[in-house]
Amino acid sequence: MSHAEDHDGTRRDFLYYATAGAGAVATGAAVWPLVDQMNPSADVKALSSIRVDVSGVDVGTQLTVKWLGKPVFIRRRTQDEIDAARAVEMSDLIDTTSENLNKPDTDAADQNRSLDESGEWLVMIGVCTHLGCVPIGDGAGDFGGWFCPCHGSHYDTSGRIRKGPAPENLPVPLAEFVDDTTIKLG
Ligand code: FES
Repeated sequence: MSHAEDHDGTRRDFLYYATAGAGAVATGAAVWPLVDQMNPSADVKALSSIRVDVSGVDVGTQLTVKWLGKPVFIRRRTQDEIDAARAVEMSDLIDTTSENLNKPDTDAADQNRSLDESGEWLVMIGVCTHLGCVPIGDGAGDFGGWFCPCHGSHYDTSGRIRKGPAPENLPVPLAEFVDDTTIKLG
C-alpha cells in the first residue's frame, strides 16, 4: 500500500469516527491543515483513545491535538488564570448544566473542569458550542480565555461561556494523566 493510500484510509477512519461520535459538530474544514501540523503523529491512528506527551508544554501555553476528528485544547494554566477562574461567582455563569463535565459533581466550579487538583491543566474540546468554530486561545476575549470570532462568544480561563451566543461551556472530555508527562484522552 502506498503512503498516499494509507493516508486516505486513515482519513476515512477519522471521518467515520467523527460521524459516529456523540455530539459530533460540523467544523470548518479549513482549520484542519493547521491542526494537523500540531498533531502527535504516533498517536494519529489510535482513534478512540490517544496519549499526548505534554512534557514540552510550558506554563501559560497550550497544545492543540486532533482527537476523534475534533481539536482538543490542552492548556497549562498560569496561577493568574487559575485564580481568575476560581474567583468567578457561580451566579455569573451562563451554562450551569452538567452535560459537559463528565464528572459526578454537577456544579460548574472550575474544579470540575481542570484535570488536576492544582488546576494547572485544563483539557477541553476546542469547538465553540454555538455553531462549531474553533475558538482562539491564549488569553483571547473579554475574560482572558478563549474567543470565538465567528459570532463573538467569549470564554473564560476555565473555558466557560461568559458572553455571546454560545449556550454552553467548552466541553471537557474524558482525560487523565497516565504518568507525569502523558495525558490520555478517552
Ligand atoms: S460559532 Fe462560535 S460564536 Fe458562533
